[in-house]
Amino acid sequence: MSAIELAPGVHWIGALDPDLREFDIILKTANGTTYNAYCVRGSEGVAVIDTVKENRAEDFFARLEAVTAYDEIKVIVLNHLEPDHTGALPELMRRAPQARLYISIKAQIMLKGLLKSDELAYTPVNTGDSVSLGDRTLRFLHTPFLHWPDTQCTWLEEAGILFSGDVFGCHYCDPRLFNDKVGDFRFSFEYYYQHIMRPFREHVLDALELIEPLAPGLIAPAHGPILRDAPARYVHRYRQLAVPQLQNEAGDHAKTLVIFYLSSYGNTARMAQAVRDGAEEVDGVRVSVYDLQGGEVGPFVDLVEGADGIVFGSPTINGDAVKPVWDLLSSLTMVNVRDKFGAAFGSYGWSGEAVSMLEDRMRGLKMRVPVKGVRVKLIPTDDELTLCRAFGRDLALNLTGQVVRKVITMEELNRSQAHA
Ligand code: FEO
Repeated sequence: MSAIELAPGVHWIGALDPDLREFDIILKTANGTTYNAYCVRGSEGVAVIDTVKENRAEDFFARLEAVTAYDEIKVIVLNHLEPDHTGALPELMRRAPQARLYISIKAQIMLKGLLKSDELAYTPVNTGDSVSLGDRTLRFLHTPFLHWPDTQCTWLEEAGILFSGDVFGCHYCDPRLFNDKVGDFRFSFEYYYQHIMRPFREHVLDALELIEPLAPGLIAPAHGPILRDAPARYVHRYRQLAVPQLQNEAGDHAKTLVIFYLSSYGNTARMAQAVRDGAEEVDGVRVSVYDLQGGEVGPFVDLVEGADGIVFGSPTINGDAVKPVWDLLSSLTMVNVRDKFGAAFGSYGWSGEAVSMLEDRMRGLKMRVPVKGVRVKLIPTDDELTLCRAFGRDLALNLTGQVVRKVITMEELNRSQAHA
């Protein structure tokens, strides 16, 4: 398979990896993947956009040599520094030492980490910056976190082609290469979005603000099919996926609190009801309660994504929270939970570690855990259920910003320490 022309003077020079079955440990790749790299020829030089994984470098260089000589290469653009796109970079720099690197402003530290050198010549670029190839211009769009902080897209103005990096990509290997030729890759496109882009939903929306006005005639992503047939459909699909489809009937100003629990003997379930009752005493909070035993992780992750606060109720069994709670927590890497409020409660028989373990996990996910969890030994008494209600109320007050925090001055702190 040779280099493939996308437009006059624009070629795909990437590599196929049909046998890959797992990517980055977390992604299944039933159809393998492609590492897409591109070559753009202008009247005053050639640009290479991205490279490939190191173990596919041979294919990449063969295709590159089919469309250019190394001494013609003036520009190397790295839309993303993850090794699946930069594996062949050191060798390319050795073969084309005159070429200038263009990376996003956020990629500088990563580039040093990748190439282990402090003497690199590169140009950091931001949205609006451009580089000329004579009769062609590459313009940069900073699109951070899609999928690393360093990521950017590159717009070839005169041809209306967007080199989009991981954005609009998917792990789907098919040598027919174009979206109107390959097999049905909808599953891969959606799967890739859910695992790679979804945690950065707000950044997707920011990127779409930059991309939509361009109305690309062709989108050339870093993985999977090249989108030449109706590329706008894929841009539109990203917007659909990034914008919640159902609105919260409680109103835009209400905070949402979701309580997930599991209960062996009904004790943690009773605590859950009391937590809910307490939270509902606070105006402006919509409270929902779910028994994890009766649901599935996928829809619960959707609920978490839209919630302002999340409470987990788990009994302690063999010194641990129960598996369905961990299953849900481990799936939260798919969504952005940073700065959401979190809390935990649970009944226990003899040790009761679950609550603090869940709190630690939520802190690890950068959630805020403002109210200390409630633990009850076996069957909750009326007093303990009152405690659960107070816990729910406190959490709701935190959620609605009604908690008055006392600011301790240094003087007061010193005084209290002197008396301690
Ligand atoms: Fe395809 Fe995030 O690398």
